[in-house]
Amino acid sequence: MDFFTYKDNLLFAEEVAVDDIIAEHGTPAYIYSRATLERHWHAFNNAVSAHKHLICYAVKANSNIGVLSVLAKLGSGFDIVSGGELARVIEAGGDPAKVVFSGVAKTQGEIAYALEQGIKCFNVESFPELDRINTVAKEMGKKAPISLRINPDVDAKTHPYISTGLKANKFGISREYAIGAYEYANTLSNLDIQGMDCHIGSQITELSPFVDTLERLLALIDQLAAKGIHIAHLDVGGGLGVRYNEESPPHPNEYAAAMATTMVGREDLMLILEPGRAIAANAGILVTKVEFLKQGEEKNFAIVDAAMNDLIRPALYNAWQKIEPTNVREGAGKKYDVVGPVCETGDFLGKDRVLNIEPNDNLAVKSAGAYGFVMASNYNSRCRCPEIMVDGDKVYVVRMRETLSDLYKGEQRVPN
Ligand code: LLP
Repeated sequence: MDFFTYKDNLLFAEEVAVDDIIAEHGTPAYIYSRATLERHWHAFNNAVSAHKHLICYAVKANSNIGVLSVLAKLGSGFDIVSGGELARVIEAGGDPAKVVFSGVAKTQGEIAYALEQGIKCFNVESFPELDRINTVAKEMGKKAPISLRINPDVDAKTHPYISTGLKANKFGISREYAIGAYEYANTLSNLDIQGMDCHIGSQITELSPFVDTLERLLALIDQLAAKGIHIAHLDVGGGLGVRYNEESPPHPNEYAAAMATTMVGREDLMLILEPGRAIAANAGILVTKVEFLKQGEEKNFAIVDAAMNDLIRPALYNAWQKIEPTNVREGAGKKYDVVGPVCETGDFLGKDRVLNIEPNDNLAVKSAGAYGFVMASNYNSRCRCPEIMVDGDKVYVVRMRETLSDLYKGEQRVPN
């Protein structure tokens, strides 16, 4: 459930009419709801409250400082995949001791930075990475806390681009090599084995892949215990899907209940969750203005002022996100492809959408809080749009709209 609701045909973000925000800040613009972010975070946190746990919000889903600060104030942990994300967490007031660091190619510099900041754990994805972390830790006279990301070879049944737990994917260490990898890590004197982790994919709408994965990892943890290698935490990654259209993903409660049932008798293991999308997606919308309505021979186009550079999910994954007017007109609509100004046929936000709209109307692309702004670019030299946080009746610009000079900041003419 989110806090974007209609009152008398006008879309509100919490207590503020979206059109009022737009009148002041213009389009396109991302608008987030603090109450929705908090509600989703609490849904996860409450659902696993009976177990020792840490919610590590996946920063990549939405890394805006305003968003991170809201979660940091709740005491959230964070899952990061770069030094840049760690810097953001710290800038937002997050606690590095609650940070886990995922990703297949952490640089020496990133490892050193994370060690300096005292993060909770490195989620290690390969043998050479074990060596690299051990070497950097040795140079710094530290012991690096590590967990091994195990690729469980489970089909997450999601889009191939966001499926990560299959043998064919680049992620993690395969189950067959897992025990050997832990034994090897155990020989490296500047590593401190803390955990086991996995992440099988994103926008997963069934429970069975999660439960299958957990069972496989628990079996490995038992095998390690028999060899005297103790695992203190189990990080089950993120991946719980959200409702964009007709999907009916499990509620975090159901998801957590399934995890808890599978973990009965394992109360010694701290459970770490890395949800990203399920916290942020429905806490954000992208608002865009209709510039022109254009009648093609075969299709009608609603040409809007947001484009694939602002929200790439439809173009990249053929993702479907709901598009609704912020001020609903009475009467039947017409079918439109909602397209942006970028010079590519793939530049669409939605196809065959029935809308009753006129030029200058505002449209809200729903469920845009995750993998929205973070994947935005300056393609076609378009300024990235602002990000705005609504908190009850208050409105904060948590990222300003870029200006033309921002577009070529750091560039220069060749001298002659
Ligand atoms: N942990 C790790 C190690 C991950 O790689 C990811 C996402 C997450 C957690 C969070 O997963 P979530 O709970 O958000 O599903 N850009 C794509 C999604 C890519 C997800 C990549 N990894 C999209 O727009 O659908």
